[in-house]
Amino acid sequence: MKKVILTPFLAFALLVFLASFSYQNQSASINNETTIISPDGDQFPEDVAKILKVHCMDCHVTASKNDKAKKKLNFDNWDKLNMLKKTGKLNDIVETVKDREMPPEKYINHYPEKKLSDEQINTLVKWAEKTMDSFKE
Ligand code: HEC
Repeated sequence: MKKVILTPFLAFALLVFLASFSYQNQSASINNETTIISPDGDQFPEDVAKILKVHCMDCHVTASKNDKAKKKLNFDNWDKLNMLKKTGKLNDIVETVKDREMPPEKYINHYPEKKLSDEQINTLVKWAEKTMDSFKE
């Protein structure tokens, strides 16, 4: 008698398990469509990856000598951050980029070509906001 009750329950549990699995796969493939693997192995859309690489990754990567910068934000560790931490960093990126605090003024004085254009700021902000929205789904 027990078996008769147990079997539909197990079948149902299996169904829920499979359904959640395919749901996860679905969201992963949506991500894959909108992102590319940057040369450093991190997943960012191509236009964003290019901006980060040229304008941010002199400091915000493991190989940087700027300890303060990489302690606050290290793009090489991006994949290891959970959604909450990523959201925190993305909010910081939006703020610092919009206020033109990043890249730092001193650095831009030395390397004027590193200054972000309004369009590049817009690209970064849109990406950050879109990524944060995708976490809420
Ligand atoms: C010349 C090196 C350098 C470059 C290039 C640079 N940063 Fe930074 N960044 C720093 C340093 C240093 C800090 C730490 C500042 C502090 O602790 O006061 C920092 C901190 C940050 C923070 C954390 C701010 C906070 O309040 O905690 C964010 C976010 C950030 N940078 C984003 C960026 C982005 C995005 C770019 C590219 C558009 C960029 N940075 C380019 C040196 C750099």
